Amino acid sequence: MATIQLGIIMNGVTGRMGTNQHLIRSIVAIRKQGGVALANGDVIMPDPILVGRQESKLRALAEAHGIERWSTNLDECLQDSYNQVYFDSQTTVLRAESIKKAIAAGKHIYCEKPTADSLEGSLELARLAREAGVKNGVVQDKLFLPGLIKLKRLVDSGFFGRILSVRLEFGYWVFEGDWQTCQRPSWNYRKEDGGGIIVDMFAHWRYVLDNLFGEVQSVSCLGVTHVPQRVDEQGKPYDCTADDAAYATFVLDGGIVVQANSSWTTRVNRDELVTIHVDGMNGSAVAGLRECKTQHRVNTPKPVWNPDIPNPFNFLEQWEQVPDNQVFDNGFKIQWELFLKHIVTDSEFRWDLLEGAKGTQLAELGLQSWHERRWIDIPELKI
Ligand SMILES: NC(=O)c1ccc[n+]([C@@H]2O[C@H](COP(=O)([O-])OP(=O)(O)OC[C@H]3O[C@@H](n4cnc5c(N)ncnc54)[C@H](O)[C@@H]3O)[C@@H](O)[C@H]2O)c1
Repeated sequence: MATIQLGIIMNGVTGRMGTNQHLIRSIVAIRKQGGVALANGDVIMPDPILVGRQESKLRALAEAHGIERWSTNLDECLQDSYNQVYFDSQTTVLRAESIKKAIAAGKHIYCEKPTADSLEGSLELARLAREAGVKNGVVQDKLFLPGLIKLKRLVDSGFFGRILSVRLEFGYWVFEGDWQTCQRPSWNYRKEDGGGIIVDMFAHWRYVLDNLFGEVQSVSCLGVTHVPQRVDEQGKPYDCTADDAAYATFVLDGGIVVQANSSWTTRVNRDELVTIHVDGMNGSAVAGLRECKTQHRVNTPKPVWNPDIPNPFNFLEQWEQVPDNQVFDNGFKIQWELFLKHIVTDSEFRWDLLEGAKGTQLAELGLQSWHERRWIDIPELKI
């Protein structure tokens, strides 16, 4: 039984996603569990080097999590052949340039979504990685959420019969930053810094819809900047130049109609921060981050519109929970483990830079639909 040390450059790891999901919940957790076990008894042990701009922050983060390597010099890390993988969770606008350098240095690539701030940029990364023959992957974490795994189980079992429509509600109130601090980075609200909810969330909706229900074929989207001014991390007011809510309709392969609301300007009155309501001929389901409930056609009550009498139904009680039936690990960690296995054993890994580019494509065409006030078809993406 051998231990395979895998050097991983982690850039942008002092950020919200980098620290919490990728470092603590994924790489540190994998190290603590003793690595990723392979079928032949070997174990992959990820060995990260934390990269960023501020040495003090990096050192503190590394020390807090028992990591020995950190650096403020990306080029040096890329030159070191011990580091086989480059991971990027910097802000979106910074990602493409660093990934290009990493590809040129022959590193395998794993990164956050969106992979770049334009479709052209995302496609270029996919093409460069293919030409260089490096393995590559993009975070598609929502596919590994317990609620979505249960929903996929329902789809695969044929529970729905013909799927008619999907209603996707995502959002919560993001504080403006004046009387309560904002819980998201301020660049999210500045278009020039890669912000905007369409760029952010359509990257997710693309792979969720493609993988669960059918390829997205067309989009109609209305974006809005509901909150025109916010206060940044330094307490300074700034103008919001990016959309903070998007009201979209998608049509999928097979004619499935999807309505998707994404908003940082709504107060939650739902079971979870995201809910996906699916109506099929034989049954319906509502999935969230962790839970998924169903109503089969044989259990469907018969409401009659009558405002003259008190509502005789408790609609929310007429649904049945889908059981866990398995242990659910952190979604980011599951995908990391699959990617590490892919690097070492060449096992299948479908979520590559080309798949990531599809997310950028949907965001770009969503923005175009909004600006031109019209439906737009989604062309097939080729490198
Ligand atoms: N998969 C998901 O669910 C998910 C959720 C949120 C964000 N994201 C993506 O992750 C990426 C990072 O988002 P975040 O919320 O962690 O952002 P963040 O602002 O918290 O972190 C950004 C990181 O980039 C670094 N950075 C380097 N140069 C910078 C500069 N000039 N200005 C600002 N930061 C700089 C920061 O130090 C930090 O480590 C984004 O691309 C975002 O779209 C993914």
